[in-house]
Amino acid sequence: PIKEVTDAEKENGAHCLILPHPTQGHINPILQFAKRLTHKRIKITLALTKFTLKTTTGFSGGSISTRSISDGFDEGGRAHANSSEEYQARFQQVGRETLAELLQDLAGSGRPVDCVVYDPFIPWVLDVAKGFGLLAAAFFTQSCALKLPLSGGEVVVPGLPPMKPEEMPSFIHDHGSYPGTFQMLLNQFRNVDKADWILINTFDKLEQEVLEWMSRFWRVKAIGPTIPSMYLDKRLQDDKEYGLNMFNPMTNTCMNWLDNQEPKSVIYASFGSLAQLTARQTKELAYALTTSNKPFLWVVRSTEESKLPEDFSKSRKGLVVTWAPQLEVLSHMAVGCFVTHCGWNSTLEGLSLGVPLVAMPQWTDQSTNAKLVTDVWGVGVRARADCNGIVSREEIVSCVKSVMESEDGKRIGSNAVKWKGIAREALDLGGSSDKNIEEFVTEIMLKRY
Ligand code: UDX
Repeated sequence: PIKEVTDAEKENGAHCLILPHPTQGHINPILQFAKRLTHKRIKITLALTKFTLKTTTGFSGGSISTRSISDGFDEGGRAHANSSEEYQARFQQVGRETLAELLQDLAGSGRPVDCVVYDPFIPWVLDVAKGFGLLAAAFFTQSCALKLPLSGGEVVVPGLPPMKPEEMPSFIHDHGSYPGTFQMLLNQFRNVDKADWILINTFDKLEQEVLEWMSRFWRVKAIGPTIPSMYLDKRLQDDKEYGLNMFNPMTNTCMNWLDNQEPKSVIYASFGSLAQLTARQTKELAYALTTSNKPFLWVVRSTEESKLPEDFSKSRKGLVVTWAPQLEVLSHMAVGCFVTHCGWNSTLEGLSLGVPLVAMPQWTDQSTNAKLVTDVWGVGVRARADCNGIVSREEIVSCVKSVMESEDGKRIGSNAVKWKGIAREALDLGGSSDKNIEEFVTEIMLKRY
């Protein structure tokens, strides 16, 4: 068990201000990291946008204090901006001002901030922090492999086999479709050399070669997977108190349903918090799940529900929900495979909880994550799209059967078990990520005087 932090240590510990990008896939990992810091003598203040604070139901930061800054869209958030570019520009302008006010306020609070931990999707935070003379750590929520240079169309990626264009992040071969997102991804590196640390949600053995390569340029620390202790190393007692959607009523519906299924029999399908499948793709997935002849738990966000085919009857074998407690689900013994879009969080969660994956990447980093899943870690298969960009029902069924039933599935299953053990070791007392977090804390304490 973890050594409890004494009151004296808490009072003398450094103070970190944590600033996530205001989307679920970015808030979750940085919050879980912050929680680990609180167990290592650090006081945490989490700054969320006013809109995020107002609209996130069931958010709990446990002993972490929350403050707000503004993105300039306090009423409607990102959805009220006309474009990604407009949102980013306004967030930068209003965010800078309101962050400076917050830092000023905390400076006079008797417990000034020592270090700002920020998401490089909002790189201006680093400029503000440095303007106040503070330490700063960039917290990357995506894999290391995404931070590599390209030359002449070929990817120079330590730790990965050669990649076909469709296996590279979509913003490289298709950046014209998402100019705002592409710019935001490039901007992450605009000033990152000024950061005192680069923290990455990965672990040493998972991306060893690329981490070693990056360490030549930056002070890099792998601190992941940022999965709550209760699912892996089981050392922190207060996990239930932290997170988004902690008290979602869907939790009981999903868990009661899973309790009634056979071990390793269920297909869990979910595409994260942002990906939008076309109606055609949703239909193929719907038919694949119903014809697979296996029980399935499928998350279809309420904004996507209208794409379900009209004749799609909620089969007796399946449960369709608008949200699922993903970590609880993946930890449940009934789950036999995870059909995923390969968002970095979902990828890490599936791998760390030992669930074989069927990768159906949609955009951004997801195709590269899928490449790691299939060709490097060997914990899943990729469902390939046809020439129209659609993954057919037959392809999905065949991939599910391959991971759940075939000889190759046994190899994938044993790799999944192996990686689960390695992920747990990384976070356990003295493991590589635990040591890196401890070093980070010690370095803040040394540098602040
Ligand atoms: C986004 C990008 O799409 C992704 O590619 C990038 O790597 C991170 O930012 P998102 O699409 O939301 O993230 O996917 P993902 O990274 O998988 O994060 C989703 C998070 O929400 C996971 O932690 C998952 O456990 C949680 N979740 C999602 C739930 O708990 N329940 C749900 O029903 C859906």
